[in-house]
Order: sequence, then C-alpha cells, then structure tokens
Amino acid sequence: MSRTWGKPLVFIASLGPAIWLAWAAYMGELGANPIEYINRFLGDWALRFLILGLAITPVRKLTGLNALARFRRMIGLFGFFYASLHILNYIAIDQFFDWQEIWTDIIKRTYITVGMVAFLALIPLAVTSTNAMVKRLGGARWRKLHRLAYFAAPAACFHFIMMVKADLREPAIYSLILIILLALRLKKPKKKSPAHPVEVHTVK
Ligand code: HEM
Repeated sequence: MSRTWGKPLVFIASLGPAIWLAWAAYMGELGANPIEYINRFLGDWALRFLILGLAITPVRKLTGLNALARFRRMIGLFGFFYASLHILNYIAIDQFFDWQEIWTDIIKRTYITVGMVAFLALIPLAVTSTNAMVKRLGGARWRKLHRLAYFAAPAACFHFIMMVKADLREPAIYSLILIILLALRLKKPKKKSPAHPVEVHTVK
C-alpha cells in the first residue's frame, strides 16, 4: 500500500462502521430496539478495533510487513473512538444523563463496572498517543504505559462475556484471538528486533 494513500484509506475504512450506523439510523433500519442496537454495534466495533490494534505487531513480525506499524496508532485510536461513542450512547441515549442511575449501574452491575475499568485503562493510551507525548515520555516509558492495552482489551472482552446470557460464541471467538495475541506477546523473541517502532520514528 502506498505511503501516500495507506493512512487515508485505513482512516476512511475505519470510519465505515460509524457512517453505516448513521445511515441505518437515518433510514430507520435499526430494528425494534434502536438504542440497544446502537449500543451493541458500537461496543462490538470498539472491541474489534482494540483487538485489531493488538494484532498489528504480531502480524507484522510473522509476515515481515513492517509497513503495518504505521496503522497501529490509528487503529487503536479508533478503538477508543468507538468505545467513547458506545459509552456516550449509554449515558446520553440509554440513561438520558441520569447520573444517579448510571452510578448505580457502575457499582451494582458487574459487567458495567468491568466495562468502565476497561475504558478508564484506555484513556491514558489515547491521551499519550501524540508524537509530542511519545517524545515527552520517551520510547521505553511510552511502550511500558501502552502495555495497558493488554489489560483493557481482555477486560472489554470479559465485559462482553459477562453481559451475554446465552450464546457465548461471539465473545468466545474474541477471547480466543486475544489469548493467542497475548501468548505471542509473552513468547520471548529469539533476537532483539530492531523494528518495534514507536510510530513517531516512522511518520513522514
Ligand atoms: C473499552 C470499553 C468497552 C468496550 C470495548 C465495550 C464493548 C462492549 C461489547 C462488545 C458489548 C456487547 C455487544 C453485543 O452484544 O454484540 C457491550 C455491551 C454493553 N456495554 Fe460495553 N464496552 C465498553 C465499556 C462500557 C462501559 C464503560 C459501559 C457503561 C458505562 C458499557 C455499557 C454496555 C452496555 C449497557 C451494554 C449492552 C448490554 C445489553 O444490551 O444488555 N460498556 N460492550
């Protein structure tokens, strides 16, 4: 993929689910319970992007496609974007800014508590995603902090497992992918890879 078009194409593709959702909402095609549909749709895409972001480094190492590293930050940020919309939908449309009710949910419904913890873990990652923050923290500290993604994604997956009452197939697939990605990460590299880039070095 060309250096010029790669990022814009990935950006537009990543916006695809949001555009599709807006279109479906406009056309009134969100089924009998649109609020639940939107909530689940956004939650699904948040989790998919978080997992995709975590998959980039292992796939890059396995395939040698080092150019993939350029998309890691954007994909991760899209995970945060969809998670934020998911939560915004819950707060604004589902709960209608009833903070008392929202707080009760957070402390009483364990799957919401877990979702909240996952989201809180993503905030420092999003905040430190800029080149300036990478420089300020230094590559090593930045990478250490960004290991939080390996906590946030499984927590989000757990949040999904906990809310599902019957059919566990979908969260089971996400969990399996995450377990494989974590296992690949824990596997000690044979030799020190020079290319574990913090993207700031590769941005043109
Ligand atoms: C990183 C953060 C989060 C991710 C990735 C995430 C992801 C998901 C996923 C994948 C689902 C299931 C969708 C489906 O059924 O197909 C879901 C459901 C849900 N999530 Fe989250 N979530 C996150 C945080 C939160 C937070 C902080 C809240 C609330 C404050 C929340 C509230 C809900 C609710 C209410 C449901 C739907 C439950 C139902 O329809 O019965 N989530 N989420």
